Amino acid sequence: FESPNDDNGYDISDYEAVLAEFGTMDDWNEFLSQAHKRGIRVIIDLVLNHTSDEHPWFVESRASKDSAKRDWYIWRDGKNDAEPNNWESIFSGSAWEWDETTGQYYLHLFSRKQPDLNWENPAVRDALYEIVNRWLDRGVDGFRIDAISHIKKDLTFSDLPPVPGKKYVPSYVKHMNVDGIHTFLEEFKQRTYANYPDVVTVGEANGVGADEALLWVGSENGKMDMIFQFEATGLWNPETEAKLDVVKFKETMTRWQNAMRSDGWNALYIENHDKTRIVSTWGDTGEYWYASATAFATMYFFMRGTPFIYQGQEIGMSNIEWDVIESYNDVGTINMYRDRLAAGESHADLMRYVWASSRDSARTPMQWSAENHGGFTTGQPWLQVNDNYPSVNVTNQWDDSRSILSYYRRMITLRKAHEVLTYGDYTLLWADHTEVFAYTRTLGDEEVVVMANLTDKCVNIPFDGVGYALVLHNGSLDASVFELQPFEARVYMRN
Ligand code: GLC
Repeated sequence: FESPNDDNGYDISDYEAVLAEFGTMDDWNEFLSQAHKRGIRVIIDLVLNHTSDEHPWFVESRASKDSAKRDWYIWRDGKNDAEPNNWESIFSGSAWEWDETTGQYYLHLFSRKQPDLNWENPAVRDALYEIVNRWLDRGVDGFRIDAISHIKKDLTFSDLPPVPGKKYVPSYVKHMNVDGIHTFLEEFKQRTYANYPDVVTVGEANGVGADEALLWVGSENGKMDMIFQFEATGLWNPETEAKLDVVKFKETMTRWQNAMRSDGWNALYIENHDKTRIVSTWGDTGEYWYASATAFATMYFFMRGTPFIYQGQEIGMSNIEWDVIESYNDVGTINMYRDRLAAGESHADLMRYVWASSRDSARTPMQWSAENHGGFTTGQPWLQVNDNYPSVNVTNQWDDSRSILSYYRRMITLRKAHEVLTYGDYTLLWADHTEVFAYTRTLGDEEVVVMANLTDKCVNIPFDGVGYALVLHNGSLDASVFELQPFEARVYMRN
């Protein structure tokens, strides 16, 4: 979408135009029809919680207090010569921005160039639904619905209890999955994609717990097909960089699997454009790079739900660690660095935190080949490519049967070949095992056993393999069946 790119395109200034550097609407139409000819469906991101401050709606809204679109955004007077309340923005600093012309503040949960739309105003909702319907008319196959759990705010706009040492307070409770949101979601669905049974929707649902999942994705009350849950990947703590607590991770993933045992559908993922790379966090970028990339892949890929693969995950791309903040583009990272440096933290400590947390870690250009910029472009990319591109790239892995890419191909083939991997029940095995994530999928007489050692230790497992065929494996076969090597993963099918 057309965008000033303050937040890598999540600040949209025209929902029905393609950003010039990516082409034109005609290119988009051609792309979609060529994809359809090849049996590929295309879903697009829908960013409806906010627009860019350069969107004509906001330009009109901010022009005067009497503007017809004033109430399309959330404007408030200041309090005691300061912001209307102490809410912190998700991207650091106050969630309010002062507007000189009209002498009021506007709310922005994300960057100051992403003013929040006022969903309470029916005219705003009408305008958004019209946009969505025009995309449906254009033949789009579905939507990833951005930040959708934030559209409803706590309308008291009251202060949060102060937190010592903080001027602004993390404000999620005031605007994430707030009571009343389902009225908006239901209307949104009814007025747009409800009549398109073949259109798929996946909502980004930060703050939604498994106990509420069916309100979002159940066959009766659901508003969309799937949601991305934040609880499992949220166990990564960039402050401590602590190792994965495997038991807790299993408990979290299993809670979601069980919540959607007989209804609803999971969106399965281990990486996305807002998270750091799995090999760099809980995996290993050294000796166990291949093993850890494929172990985490095996662990999530065969669960009940639709697995999503984030670009570069399938070749084991890893985090970047640049020395200076100027190399970074992520607005959240830059704001955080600026605010915490001003508060007295050291550059070295902050860069360490940036490496472990910045969204740019996973946003570097896709590594296609050993050519300049990883073969991504002959121009100048918006971010430097990861230095490891001469060795970690698609071309290197394409024909190598022992590559991460080949392993992903095998996983996809396996998943598609066996209905049990789509429809089968999920049951966690060995819940208390502190290193291994193991589970079964069962359907009628069929049973699949999936196991992945998520640590760099050799561990024992209570499994002898008798009566099972090993159908996928990321290790060597000489080790004992009762022992998993570091990051070893196996998938068995009962004979
Ligand atoms: C979502 C997106 C993220 C973006 C934010 C604001 O969390 O995934 O990349 O910055 O919404 O639109």
